Amino acid sequence: MSQGSHVISIFNPQSAEAWKLSPLNNYLIIACSFIMIVVVGLLIYVTIKFRAKAGDAEPKQIYNNRTVEAFMIGIPFLMVSFFFYQTVKVMNETEPTVQGQVPTVVITGRQWWWQAVYPGTTVVTANEIHLPAGKKVLLQLESQDVIHDWWIPSFGPKMDMIPGVKNYLWVTIGKPGVYEGACSEFCGKQHAWMRIKVIADSPADYQQWLLNKSKAALPPADTLALAGAVIFNKKSCADCHSIRGTPAQGKSGPDLTHLASRTTLLAGMMTNTKEHIKRFINNPEGVKPGVRMPRFIFKKDTVNALVAYLSNLK
Ligand code: CUA
Repeated sequence: MSQGSHVISIFNPQSAEAWKLSPLNNYLIIACSFIMIVVVGLLIYVTIKFRAKAGDAEPKQIYNNRTVEAFMIGIPFLMVSFFFYQTVKVMNETEPTVQGQVPTVVITGRQWWWQAVYPGTTVVTANEIHLPAGKKVLLQLESQDVIHDWWIPSFGPKMDMIPGVKNYLWVTIGKPGVYEGACSEFCGKQHAWMRIKVIADSPADYQQWLLNKSKAALPPADTLALAGAVIFNKKSCADCHSIRGTPAQGKSGPDLTHLASRTTLLAGMMTNTKEHIKRFINNPEGVKPGVRMPRFIFKKDTVNALVAYLSNLK
């Protein structure tokens, strides 16, 4: 993979949609800052310059100054009209109709991770979502439990994920790279550890990725991993997790078919190392409090076998 990470900021637009949204945002910030400086400046000036002194009489009261009123009403009216028009225009450009369009990926917010299913393929993955750069793609956003919110600041618009509702976002990523974001709607204990990583590939790399990830899991590489595979299916692991090409077809936890090819675990909480997989299996609640995965009291050899199996799933 080719690409460095980008600064996570709305001031670092990296998609065609963000390039449209960003100038509007900048104009708004400039206009609002200008108004704030003028209003607060005048207020401070007037407060000091015309403050009451001992013996001052009641100042002259002025009513119905048409000129002042015309400015007070006219300037805000013009500004609101301008930004309303620009907002509707940008919304139309960045959120065109989705009717009849097949989404590139269906992303489901779950407590506390992201499931990604690629329609028309067998690819299912979690948390690290690959998309082609330079192409306009449609994301379908859903939730399995509570309201989550999908937001990668560099891509511009954010979108709520609401149970029972299908929401959509168009994104045209400028160039290959890694783009990060996070869940932006408080969704429970581990909301803070619901990070998003989008890996934008060149269209050719993306096709290759889809092809690789549509394959079934690699068979266990050695006897320890083989023992791990047996344990995975015999113990409860397979009830919640899928590993394609094996009997494990659980749907409530992340798909682990190609776990080892992801760079992080637990929606960005830890790097994907054997040590971290082991630590999590040994004490899920201790690593990610509130996590849905129950704690199993496994023997050391059992955990080692599971780790050998999982860390081989490239
Ligand atoms: Cu999901 Cu906050």
